[in-house]
Amino acid sequence: MPHPIRFDQTDAVGVITLDNPPVNAFSLSQRIGVSEAITAGLQDPTIQAFVICGSGRMFSAGADIREFDTGVAAESPTLSDLISLIEDSPKPVVCAMHGTALGGSCELSLACHSRVAVVGSRIGLPEVTLGIVPGAGGTQRLPRLIGVLPALDAIVSGKPMTAEKAHELGLVDNLADDLDDLLELSVSVAHRLSSQHEPPIKTRDRDSHLREAQNGSELFDNFRSQISRRARGFEAPFACVDCVEAATTMPFEQGLAFERETFLRCRSSNQSLAQRHAFFAEREVRKVRGLRAETSQIELKCAAVVGCGTMGSGIAMCFANAGIPVIVTESKQDMLDRGMEMIRQNYTSTVSKGRMSGDEAEARLALIKPTLEFERVSEADVVIEAAFEDMELKKKIFRDLDTLCKTDAILATNTSSLNVNAIAAATQRPEQVVGTHFFSPANIMRLVEIVRGDHSSPEVLSTILNLTKRLGKVGVVVGVCDSFAANRMLYPYSRQAQFLIEEGAFPEQVDKVIYDFGFPMGPFALSDLAGIDVGWRIRQHREPNRPKHLRYSDIADQLYKMGRYGQKTGKGWYQYEEGSRTPIPDSEGLDLIIRTSRELGIDRREISEEEILQRCMYPLINEGARILEEGIAQRASDLDIVWLYGFGFPRYRGGPMFYADSIGLKNVYEAMQGFYEIHRDWLEPAPLLERLAREDRTFAEWDRE
Ligand code: CAA
Repeated sequence: MPHPIRFDQTDAVGVITLDNPPVNAFSLSQRIGVSEAITAGLQDPTIQAFVICGSGRMFSAGADIREFDTGVAAESPTLSDLISLIEDSPKPVVCAMHGTALGGSCELSLACHSRVAVVGSRIGLPEVTLGIVPGAGGTQRLPRLIGVLPALDAIVSGKPMTAEKAHELGLVDNLADDLDDLLELSVSVAHRLSSQHEPPIKTRDRDSHLREAQNGSELFDNFRSQISRRARGFEAPFACVDCVEAATTMPFEQGLAFERETFLRCRSSNQSLAQRHAFFAEREVRKVRGLRAETSQIELKCAAVVGCGTMGSGIAMCFANAGIPVIVTESKQDMLDRGMEMIRQNYTSTVSKGRMSGDEAEARLALIKPTLEFERVSEADVVIEAAFEDMELKKKIFRDLDTLCKTDAILATNTSSLNVNAIAAATQRPEQVVGTHFFSPANIMRLVEIVRGDHSSPEVLSTILNLTKRLGKVGVVVGVCDSFAANRMLYPYSRQAQFLIEEGAFPEQVDKVIYDFGFPMGPFALSDLAGIDVGWRIRQHREPNRPKHLRYSDIADQLYKMGRYGQKTGKGWYQYEEGSRTPIPDSEGLDLIIRTSRELGIDRREISEEEILQRCMYPLINEGARILEEGIAQRASDLDIVWLYGFGFPRYRGGPMFYADSIGLKNVYEAMQGFYEIHRDWLEPAPLLERLAREDRTFAEWDRE
């Protein structure tokens, strides 16, 4: 296979162009190509210097992540070998970056003798997001170039910086205006460096930036405690800090060896496997059956949201944040005013935290146009209905939308559980109807379930998929069923949590197990945050459909009747002190739980942490298996994305279906079967889970079928 690079000579400068679409990842073949070009150029007296640049839309996305699992990443020349060859080259090497320069490619740039970047390009070391540390010298060279604290920030957050910021910090030496300018400028820098008498300066020898940290080792401990909350449960951020610290305490070669050892340890960890799974799952989820890259798109210039309650106002903000004008309709002035006030307060709070300028907030607010005139939906290319969860009301709204809206406008419903086909049938254009289930708070949560109705057209689906990306969301396409994928999997989880407290556990015990597993909070704290009244309202239309032989715990209903709605009333599963969100167990709540157990004739027992975890997790995985079998979700990995972005499932566990694979489906099945034998209700193992367990296969293998 030809090596995916090009080599051209401009005067005495050898220009090596990475040409490995789509992202110029440093595969073995590309590493060999660059290495051979440099080795040949070093022998060639007509070449005095090199420029390395990328073709297509970016410099490079770094190491080829797919090679991590095959062992090819370790084949010679490794990225580290190539980087040493570049740094040791007696002929200067200039790195010319555009688009993105991430991971291993950013590390390669650090070893070059000068760096040029097009303004606006993004440069960084995102390895931590894959559960690893930069493995090709990034933790040793970046602090030498830009200083210890900025390097720690960049490496531990994994966030790329703009070329302008990189220039300010000293990572980039020269900024180019555009791609043409980039090559010209880089060649001229290469000429200049090669005409100097001294050999090029190596980054590894630049130690001046390290001194500040060498004189005060508490810098690293402070940094560790600063990130301890944000990075709770993750191993890689702390491993990154260790590596940067090593840069300040060890000679370069030793620091490099420490980094290598840490990289290899992280790469083979379960956390990194899970985070790499999440990376690829996020890309797979965009590939939807029946949609092709060339599926045509509907142009969306203006949006409308019907309803300005909690969801409607949040959705309107999503459009405004993406720069799309949005009309918001309500039936009553006071409701409209309340919704707009909520939006204003949200922006004010963002400005007060310094996360947005006042002008920016005003500009976004100006894009939101509140109105009582429902007819104005006719101006929109996409309408999102965010009214109460009531089928008759929604059907009426869709009949009205059908008469008022442009013929090619997309009509979307934000229902969290209702039948999208029935809503679509209220219109003469079911092919234009789709579900867009945003998660609350809609302006923050990144998940949107895109519900594909029986008649939703490929154009509509594809446009909505792209729209979610434009809104900064992750769209997951699911089919029509009661409550779709996310909430359908959530119900068995919260249901079991409630049965557990009837049997002998307490809310704080269950919540602690789930929190320690890595969720931001447990099911009871979540229920108090979302509102026990909200759950009660949902149960009013769900529970009548429940098969009568399946029992449900009514403690939450009793809390509702007691007016304990959660944080908003200061009492729910827990109690809350004025102005505080910290849950405190209280005697009234505990009495209710113990009384309920007694009335049900249950002899309360000690419940182990292991049982709590399994009783909460396995039923949701089991429901995931049913969803897959019914074709409601396309892949198990799509369900992982739903949980990562919808409910804060710990990314370092990859999502529930990946987690199930990692503990073994046989173990999950056997535990479910055991629970079913004792508790019957709700816990019958799904046929797909049973089959995969019997065949000793995984959900990932089922995905690949
Ligand atoms: N290795 C292998 N494949 C990669 C890749 C990589 N580093 N980066 C992207 N791809 C693949 C994607 O999986 C996708 O493949 P499919 O089309 O088959 O789904 C394709 O390239 C296009 O990627 P995106 O859809 O993500 O394209 P985008 O334009 O939306 O984003 C990007 C581009 C910002 C570069 C994004 O792809 C990205 O963030 N990539 C990963 C960057 C990264 O984490 N680099 C560090 C690698 S680890 C490393 O370098 C370790 C080391 O120190 C040795």
